Amino acid sequence: MANNEKIIGHARIETNNFLMIVLITLVVAVGGLVEIVPLFFQKSTTTPIEGLKPYSALQLAGRDVYVSEGCYNCHSQMIRPFQAETLRYGPYSVAGEFVYDRPFQWGSKRTGPDLHRVGGRYSDEWHRIHLTNPRDLVPESNMPAYPFLAEKLVDADSLPKRMEVLRTLGAPYSDEEIAKSTEEVKGKTQMEAVIAYLQVLGTARSATRPAAVAAAVTETAPAAAEPADAASVVVENGVVKFYFASGKADLATGASEALAQMATAAKEGKKLNLSGFHDATGDLASNQELAKQRAFAVRDALMGMGVSEAQLELVKPAATEGAGSNAEARRVEVSLQ
Ligand code: HEC
Repeated sequence: MANNEKIIGHARIETNNFLMIVLITLVVAVGGLVEIVPLFFQKSTTTPIEGLKPYSALQLAGRDVYVSEGCYNCHSQMIRPFQAETLRYGPYSVAGEFVYDRPFQWGSKRTGPDLHRVGGRYSDEWHRIHLTNPRDLVPESNMPAYPFLAEKLVDADSLPKRMEVLRTLGAPYSDEEIAKSTEEVKGKTQMEAVIAYLQVLGTARSATRPAAVAAAVTETAPAAAEPADAASVVVENGVVKFYFASGKADLATGASEALAQMATAAKEGKKLNLSGFHDATGDLASNQELAKQRAFAVRDALMGMGVSEAQLELVKPAATEGAGSNAEARRVEVSLQ
């Protein structure tokens, strides 16, 4: 009897469209709230990571350009914790990096590459040329050209108000920063602003690192000029040497096996020492920058395989070490400690 009543009750729900919709909505809403609400209170999602700063006035103006031009329609800003992603883009994104983003620009559509770690990857000039006409740098690119951004000025007057609103939402702007924001961006073009924004993306997570890496970089003795060769990996006496092509910071295609072995050793508790070298052709500053990018490439790849930062030690090698040809000099060495 009781059973029959239940069946009749269910039949009523299933045969009544409106009731069914209301009840489904209710169930989905409760399920959603149970998943979402705790995130509002979780420390890892609400606490900014160390070194994270709110956007400067110019970067903020650039962010508006990014949104209004719809860059997010083709670019995501979230690197997922998969090896294929971290090898390509760098360390995966964490929630604490986005606490001052309102709204965040994670996206999911990738007609173009993810931009979360694009900050510092290219020069401002590179971005200017790329935005003016992507085909000048990447012939097969289907990204639209944005030359008009160089002719339009940013809306400087609206910035103080907007920064105030962001402050009420938690961004730690000082009165002074807000007061001088208009002055700061007056006369700047939208092009300059969007480049300033791109250059800061994803940099907080490595904010403390560039100096350390620069210190670990040394120059090796010059040798006779050699043709640029391809990237490669060599294991010698337990030291893995990642060689790079001239002027490039791309890891060799065959690097993942050696990286995976290093990552396994790190997981067993070993520390990894990283040293960057560069050749002596060209000017020192750009060589050091390149060596830094190469050390980053190796470090990011290792972190992408789950090695924690604490296990990666950046070591400045003895100045004479590794002297040899240019091709030999362009490398990052990783050894177990
Ligand atoms: C129709 C899709 C599309 C839109 C819209 C678009 N892009 Fe792109 N973007 C691409 C593609 C495809 C690439 C890869 C080829 C290239 O580098 O040009 C790219 C590359 C880039 C790169 C280089 C990334 C890297 O790691 O090499 C940057 C930076 C960039 N876009 C910024 C922007 C900005 C800023 C906007 C908005 C003003 C924008 N894009 C709008 C498709 C798009």
